[in-house]
Amino acid sequence: MTIGIDQINFYIPQFYVNMAELAEARGVDPNKFLKGIGQTEMAVSPVSQDIVSMGANAAKDILSDDDKKAVSMVIVATESAIDSAKASAVQIHNLLGIQPFARCIEMKEACYAATPAIQLAKDYLQQRPDEKVLVIASDTARYGLESGGEPTQGAGAVAMMLSHNPRILELNDDAVPFTEDVYDFWRPTGHMYPLVAGKLSKDAYIHSFQESWKAYAQRYNHSLDDFASLCFHVPFTKMGKKALESILTDEISDETQKRITEGYDAATYYNRYVGNIYTGSLYLSLISLLETHDLEAGQTIGLFSYGSGSVGEFFSGKLVEGYRDALAIDEHKALMNNRKALSVEEYESFFKRFDNLEFDHDTELAETPKGAFYLDHIEDHIRSYNTL
Ligand code: COA
Repeated sequence: MTIGIDQINFYIPQFYVNMAELAEARGVDPNKFLKGIGQTEMAVSPVSQDIVSMGANAAKDILSDDDKKAVSMVIVATESAIDSAKASAVQIHNLLGIQPFARCIEMKEACYAATPAIQLAKDYLQQRPDEKVLVIASDTARYGLESGGEPTQGAGAVAMMLSHNPRILELNDDAVPFTEDVYDFWRPTGHMYPLVAGKLSKDAYIHSFQESWKAYAQRYNHSLDDFASLCFHVPFTKMGKKALESILTDEISDETQKRITEGYDAATYYNRYVGNIYTGSLYLSLISLLETHDLEAGQTIGLFSYGSGSVGEFFSGKLVEGYRDALAIDEHKALMNNRKALSVEEYESFFKRFDNLEFDHDTELAETPKGAFYLDHIEDHIRSYNTL
């Protein structure tokens, strides 16, 4: 019996800002952003795209009519929740037209929550061979204009269908989570932006990776030689690279070092042009790896998930025969390439409109693809969505 990722898709807003231009506007050497942080472009969310509409947009293209009947649980992982009580999964369930006898919940632990959502789905499906679970990771990463975290923002969602006999990645029974109480990044209730201890957040990430990897390797008797590639949570592409380099010691053969390093570059290609999408970052990285790198069925991919606060987890999956046929490579290339570049001034006005919930539908929807969900208006604190 195999359970895993049967389908996977992402959605990103139609707008981005160029990181070199942002650096110049902030009086910073562009190479700090391009090389030091490792980001080239950053997705910018209009107010008409929130975690619900982005999540629904990521999921709608992987949902057949049969799936709408088979999905019995929808889990949304997010750390940019729009409500402290109502789960965004309920609204997404409605927008997608999934059958009503389903569980809908939202999960939180910074950027980590999509991973326990997947593990929960895997356990849940053991006894339910005909059912499916829809896991969505959706976030708007915003630290504030001219803040230290500004170059590590972004927005987007990843949707994954979990089922028996998956077409893309079988999940192995080998996860090792690692929890450590640390204030590296947090957002107290009522705060619009997170609080972050930048250097501590980098150190805590690396420590969490080293601990979970070390325990995983010991517990399951694995080494890097066993992996075709590794994917990381990618708040910015340099972050995972630093963590990876910390375990590429002299005992690792040149061949393995080369394979894993080349894999990392492929696994962060999309992330470099999107920025941080928090809960979805690891899974955007997985899509990037699968769509831009040569891999073979049967090979093992290692995944490291991390959420500040903090929980990390190392786990793995095996590529399924014909996995490439289940990917939407052309559609994803079009999504990445058809975005509109904003000047820094435009980005700033988008940012402020998002803060103030001020809609400008003429500007925002002009670039949105037909059929996409968007947040139309908010009245009496009730959000109403529509499709183009
Ligand atoms: N050319 C090339 N590299 C440069 C450079 C230049 N001109 N100027 C600086 N750099 C490098 C620095 O050496 C550093 O690299 P290193 O980490 O390998 O030493 C990198 O660019 C970042 O510089 P730093 O001084 O650490 O930047 P910062 O104080 O502005 O903070 C973050 C960067 C990522 C900590 C900050 O954006 C942040 O807090 N982001 C949100 C939190 C986050 O994403 N944490 C990650 C774990 S979840």
